[in-house]
Order: sequence, then structure tokens, then C-alpha cells
Amino acid sequence: MKVLGIETSCDETAVAIITDDKQILSNQILSQTEHAAFGGVVPEIAARAHLEHIDRLVSQALKDANVSFKDLDAIAATTGPGLIGGVMVGMMMGKSIAAVHDIPFISINHLEGHALTVRLTEDIAFPYLLLLVSGGHSQILIVKGVGQYKRLGTTIDDALGEAFDKCAKILGLGYPGGPAVEQAALKCKDTDQALKQFPLPTPMKGRDNCHFSFSGLKTAMRRHAESLIEENALNDENISALCHAFQHTVGKIMIDRLGRAINIFLAEYKDIANPTLVVAGGVAANLHLRKCLEDLTTTVGMRFSAPPVKLCSDNGAMIAWAGIEHLKQGITHDLDTEAKPRWPLDPDAPIAAGAGIKA
Ligand code: KG4
Ligand code: ZN
Repeated sequence: MKVLGIETSCDETAVAIITDDKQILSNQILSQTEHAAFGGVVPEIAARAHLEHIDRLVSQALKDANVSFKDLDAIAATTGPGLIGGVMVGMMMGKSIAAVHDIPFISINHLEGHALTVRLTEDIAFPYLLLLVSGGHSQILIVKGVGQYKRLGTTIDDALGEAFDKCAKILGLGYPGGPAVEQAALKCKDTDQALKQFPLPTPMKGRDNCHFSFSGLKTAMRRHAESLIEENALNDENISALCHAFQHTVGKIMIDRLGRAINIFLAEYKDIANPTLVVAGGVAANLHLRKCLEDLTTTVGMRFSAPPVKLCSDNGAMIAWAGIEHLKQGITHDLDTEAKPRWPLDPDAPIAAGAGIKA
């Protein structure tokens, strides 16, 4: 079984071809650089850039995999959630290929692409506990199966990736911010002193739920940065120390929130053979976060798993793999499937108190 996957929901134009025995025959990713000058993704520029590059990436993917359209069993494309202009480009490309070559079309939820990636690279059975942290979402979910999710927690304001990006912007580290903050934090020489010098709040810590909040952390970061600017001390050393303090605080918040979710998961699945915590989404590339989660799972006797770093940020392989997971269950979709800017994995989850539209 071979599936071609297309991802265009944000600022990566990506096409991949995957087999049902987990071979990545091609994984073309074009990260749009046009947005750096604006400090964030500009939807109209993103949509135009997807349109400009998508044909070439599809051709290159077929060439890499040494296959033609007739060798494909399905075309999978992200149909939401995301920036609607970009989603439309990838979705219409997928539908056109499917229509012209009479191949089944599979509509993929971008979040489900992240959620299932780990099953492409490892043997992880359902159910598992998932921390999904990206530029647009921060959620804790129980992954019960394809299309079956129970949301335990969500952010009531910013997503974690957004918090990393804003932190980088405040400190002049460019976009995307996550990798830049991580690199700066690694250069911090006196980590204990950094935490004393830059105290930061841990919003929601200790609350009797599994939700997150990052806006207070962002405000505290901004205040520290403003003080440093006033003192003419926004230099590399202080930036590294501040980034270390930020990452350390994020780790503390995650351990607290996940700790609660783990209790719920283990109580619900008492007899499960190999309980597993998975982290996915762009922020899952962060090695400090991975270490915190790994230590937490060791403490509670769970297995920890994360996709390889290059499959954490948006890519076509995760969409093609989600397509394979659907196809294995005989699920394909009509060509009149619509693009959805908002598409929660667990539509029945209650709205978190104080949460905005992203929850
Ligand atoms: O999943 P993703 O590629 O796109 C969305 O679906 O949003 O996630 C992008 C987010 C960005 O906010 C980026 O700064 C963050 O993931 N990110 C990281 C790292 N690499 C990417 N955050 C922290 N540490 C990283 N190494
Ligand atoms: Zn994503």
C-alpha cells in the first residue's frame, strides 16, 4: 500500500509518499522563509507560496519514490485545522490528483497527523496518552484509535509553540522562535543563577484539571526583557539566561499538568500492558521538554515515546501515514469534503473555563 500525503496548513509546503510497512519513500518539505521578516506567518503570503511550490514538490516526491500516480493507493491531504488559504491549496491539489487518476481521497485532520506519527516510527498500540504541543495547539489527549480521542486538557490562551515564538520575538531571536530559544538556553553558563535572576510564574500549576495557560509567562518574559533593555543589558549572556529560565519553567508546568493526566489515564486503563506517554507537534522537537517528560514517565513506570525530531514539525509523512491508518480501516472520503479552519480532535470535550476559540 502506498499513500501520497500533502500538508499545507501553515508555513510548510510538504509532500511525502509512505508505504503501509512504514517505509518513507519520499519526504519533501519546503519551509517558507518569506515570513521571517514579519515575525510570524502571514496567511496570504503562505497560501501564495504553497501554490507556487506544490506542483514541483509532488513531482519530486514521485521521482524520489520512483512511482507514478497509478502506483498510489490513495492521496491524503490536510483539510484542517489551519490557515484556510493554505489548506485549500493542498486539499484541492489532493482532490485533483484523486479525480484525474481515479484514486481514493482521504481528508486528514492536521492534529491527527501529529497524533499518529509515533506509530510510523515505533510500534505503539492504542490507547496512549498524548501531549500535543505545536504553534497552534497545546492539548493532552487519550488516543484511543483512528478518529477516537478524549481530550483531558487544553490551553486556555496561547499555545506552547506560540509562547516560544513570542519569547523569541521579545528577545529579537527571529522566527520560528522555538529552535532559537532552545539554542540560546543551551548557552546559559550559570543555570542556577539564571533562575534566581529571572523568576517566572507557573500558571495553572497545582490546579485540579489538566489545562494550560501561557499568557502570564509571556507577560513576565516581556517585563524581564524590558528591564534588561532599560538597563542596557539585553546581551547574549542575559538572553541565554532568560531562555534557560523560560524553558525550565515550561518543563515544570508540563510535569505538573501531565502528572495529573497520567493519574487519570492510569486509573482508566488499569490493566494496560505497556502504558505510554507520547509527545508530538513542533514543540516536541525540544530536547529539554523531552527530558522532563522522560524523567516523569520513569518516575511513574510508564514508557515514553516521541517521533524523531525531523518528524515533529509539520511534514507530509505524518499526513501520508495518517492516510495509511485510515486506508487500513477502509476509510476514504468524498471529493466534496470541505476544508475546516477549526476541527477539534475531540468535538465532545467541554469548553475549558476561561478558554478562547483555540480550546
Ligand atoms: O507542529 P508545527 O510545526 O506547526 C503547527 O502545527 O503549529 O509547530 C510549530 C511550532 C512553532 O511554534 C515552533 O517555534 C515550535 O513548534 N518549535 C519548537 C522547537 N521546534 C519547533 N519549540 C520549542 N523547541 C523547539 N526545538
Ligand atoms: Zn503542526
